[in-house]
Amino acid sequence: MRISQLLKSTEYGSKVTVKGWVRTKRGNKNVAFIALNDGSCVANIQIVADLAKISDEQLKPVTTGACIRVDGTLVESLGKGQGVEVQADTIEIYGTADPDTYPLQKKGHSLEFLRDIAYLRPRTNTFGAILRIRHAMAFAIHKYFNDNGFYYLHTPLITASDCEGAGAMFQVTTLDMNNLPKTEDGKVDYSQDFFGKSCSLTVSGQLEGELGALSLGRIYTFGPTFRAENSNTPRHLAEFWMIEPEMAFYELEDNMELAEDFLKYLIRYALENCREDLEFMDKMWDNGLIERLKSVIACDFVRLDYTEGIRILKESGRKFEFPCDWGCDLQSEHERYLVEEHFKRPVILINYPKEIKAFYMKLNDDGKTVRAMDVLFPKIGEIIGGSEREADYGKLSARVKELNIPEKDIWWYLDTRRWGSAPHSGFGLGFERLLLFVTGMGNIRDVIPFPRTPKNAEF
Ligand code: 4AD
Ligand code: MG
Repeated sequence: MRISQLLKSTEYGSKVTVKGWVRTKRGNKNVAFIALNDGSCVANIQIVADLAKISDEQLKPVTTGACIRVDGTLVESLGKGQGVEVQADTIEIYGTADPDTYPLQKKGHSLEFLRDIAYLRPRTNTFGAILRIRHAMAFAIHKYFNDNGFYYLHTPLITASDCEGAGAMFQVTTLDMNNLPKTEDGKVDYSQDFFGKSCSLTVSGQLEGELGALSLGRIYTFGPTFRAENSNTPRHLAEFWMIEPEMAFYELEDNMELAEDFLKYLIRYALENCREDLEFMDKMWDNGLIERLKSVIACDFVRLDYTEGIRILKESGRKFEFPCDWGCDLQSEHERYLVEEHFKRPVILINYPKEIKAFYMKLNDDGKTVRAMDVLFPKIGEIIGGSEREADYGKLSARVKELNIPEKDIWWYLDTRRWGSAPHSGFGLGFERLLLFVTGMGNIRDVIPFPRTPKNAEF
């Protein structure tokens, strides 16, 4: 039985077996108390070892971090705050953990230290809680879409097209870096590469996702995405997971409604299914976390034009580090001002200048702005980016030409507007940004098991 189940059991007197990792051991000459954890919940189960039954010699290797099996009897606990404990008959050691070398001794390690030993940090209460919440959110995402008639589409990770056009792609090649084949004009000859052309890791599954929407009606992707932007911030990873729904016959308004409903569903799911872990995170790392989660579900998100947002920022009298004139991309300080100080709830900002958004967004009648939407969250800033897509072949191919996007990479995408084009929309939710919000953590490196960031690909 897992410890999470045992702790709820009332079958006092029954024989049980528990297996897990020792968190602490304390005691005296007569009795030892072992706190055991098996990763199924944040709480430990207490093992009581009577030294008349289990010798000192046997107990010696039972140190913090060791893995053991205990056979014994489940009894009602007299200790405060715990319902049951196990009175040990026998203890078997699976693996010892030398106290002189095992890095996770007493509690209270800093998050920075734990990042250096990311291969061990899932054994801490904090990372156990985060990883269980991460699992629950992934499950809830699939459940939400499945229940709402969306199909899970697997889009490729290796691609020849740059969806966001930001030039932040990791190249994929089998060419010998020390001996590159060259064409006559001295450029790298990619025709000799594995795929016969230059390829990269995808920054987004959207372009292929649109093909799915224009055939299956509603799809979503959920997979890793890669960005080689050199942003060393608490909100950027080089490898992150993104959820991208894409829907035929959805206009911007429908897209916003879906994004709001989806986010609220996920937060509600966490509150209903991850209560103990959330209470732990609230107590240890972010007082007020649960209240913040509840407040986001309870309010209507603000829907605001970019132009109006800029006016509010300029009239705020606030001195920002970066300028915020019409045409500027908003920085996290601007987004957080709107959300945390001005409106005090999430904001969906729409109709951005076309120059600061990707080529595929639908142009508004003003010819200057596009039907983009960013969902901005307290403490996070941008959590979702999306838009209604340009469905008109003429307008889309004009934009592709304007931006010098190579036709040879994007012809198939343009073709979707030649045959059976339809109004459609979609968005991308950064999975780790969602987890930052739900767990209350402050650094994105702490909500993914093995973070990839500039100069770091350890483990
Ligand atoms: O706003 P972005 O760049 O939008 C797209 O990629 C669209 N193709 C999505 C779509 O419409 N289907 O990225 C979407 C979200 C951001 O709002 C953010 O939450 C997250 O992905 N994100 C990152 N998360 C972690 N690290 C990074 N480097 C991220 N870049 C974007
Ligand atoms: Mg964006």
